[in-house]
Amino acid sequence: MSEDKDPKQEVEAARTAFERDFERFDFFASPVVLTKPPRFSELEGEQRALEDLRTRHLGKKSAIALAKKLIGRVTSEERASFGRLVQDTEGAIRHSIDEVDRSLKRLIETARVERESIDVTLPGRRPRPGHLHPITLMRQRIEDIFVSLGYAVEDDREIETDFYNFDALNIPEGHPARDPQDTFYTTEGFALRSQTSTVQIHAMQRRGAPVRMIAPGRVFRRDTPDPTHNPMFYQVEGLCVDRGITMAHLKGTLAEFVQRLFGPETKTRFRPSYFPFTEPSAEVDYSCFSCGGPGCRICKQSGWIELGGSGMVHPNVLQAANVDTEEFTGFAFGLGIDRTCARIYQLDDIRLLFENDVRFLEQFR
Ligand code: FA5
Repeated sequence: MSEDKDPKQEVEAARTAFERDFERFDFFASPVVLTKPPRFSELEGEQRALEDLRTRHLGKKSAIALAKKLIGRVTSEERASFGRLVQDTEGAIRHSIDEVDRSLKRLIETARVERESIDVTLPGRRPRPGHLHPITLMRQRIEDIFVSLGYAVEDDREIETDFYNFDALNIPEGHPARDPQDTFYTTEGFALRSQTSTVQIHAMQRRGAPVRMIAPGRVFRRDTPDPTHNPMFYQVEGLCVDRGITMAHLKGTLAEFVQRLFGPETKTRFRPSYFPFTEPSAEVDYSCFSCGGPGCRICKQSGWIELGGSGMVHPNVLQAANVDTEEFTGFAFGLGIDRTCARIYQLDDIRLLFENDVRFLEQFR
């Protein structure tokens, strides 16, 4: 404010400048009923703008503050009226700002309550219920059957030493049977188990003989993925060791199992095979649950579907687990859960089971 200007005009100019700035707050100054009150964040912005305006028009460097300093400099006749003008103008500005401030605070409070309140009458959001994976459903069906036949369910480790994965199963180093069961190794020399047969050894060491158990679980092989192979898949191992156990018990048990799983007409077929840990060994097939024999798309026109491998536990395996081979004999079998699951649900490709495509999985609700 320059001293050659009329001080009263300076105060008037300060009032006009304030009124121009203040126009944007007119909306809040009048006690109107707002049909659509501004949002909480907008109101907070307005409050910040109002505080800026207060500093600009009433602060230390405002035109009014400068005008106050002039009170002592005007002539003594004019001093009283000039002083009143400055005070009234300042009072009017402060009053207008305070009024809007109060109104804004009320609106902010209302908006806050609105924002934080919950409408208890709104219908709840229904959580989408999950469901079990088809492999789990299959595993549970298999477990139920064997539990009802008196088998315990064993769970065991997926990372193994060479001893359990190969040596104890009568597959010494250099044995050609290690090749098709090649697996993944850790840098410390542990192996991801390539078959659930490892649990035969753990179970016999833990429980001794007699023992009757199944062991479902994940196994790993260096197999290239294709419609019937995955590098990770599920097997279920079965082991029964007791006095006087013969091949007939093995055949009877698996025949009973497939009949309970696929229906009472289901037949079994045993083909000679070779596994280092069983002697004799056999591949087990069951008659197709869809066509019953003549051949169809599901059994690839053969009438039979492969269940897995089986045989009488090799004496070397019983000895590796400290079971007396003079007193005990046993049978064992190992079934692939993924392929059985694929057959039952008529899937062309077992890889579907691991792709985690929800559109596929939702069909198993
Ligand atoms: C074994 O793994 C033996 N341990 C089975 C056994 C147990 C024999 C006890 C004797 C006594 P095999 O390698 O054939 O056997 O595998 C058994 C089943 O696993 C197969 O019938 C098949 O269903 C499944 N399988 C094997 N490799 C794969 C793979 N890469 N992907 C999916 N399933 C597989």
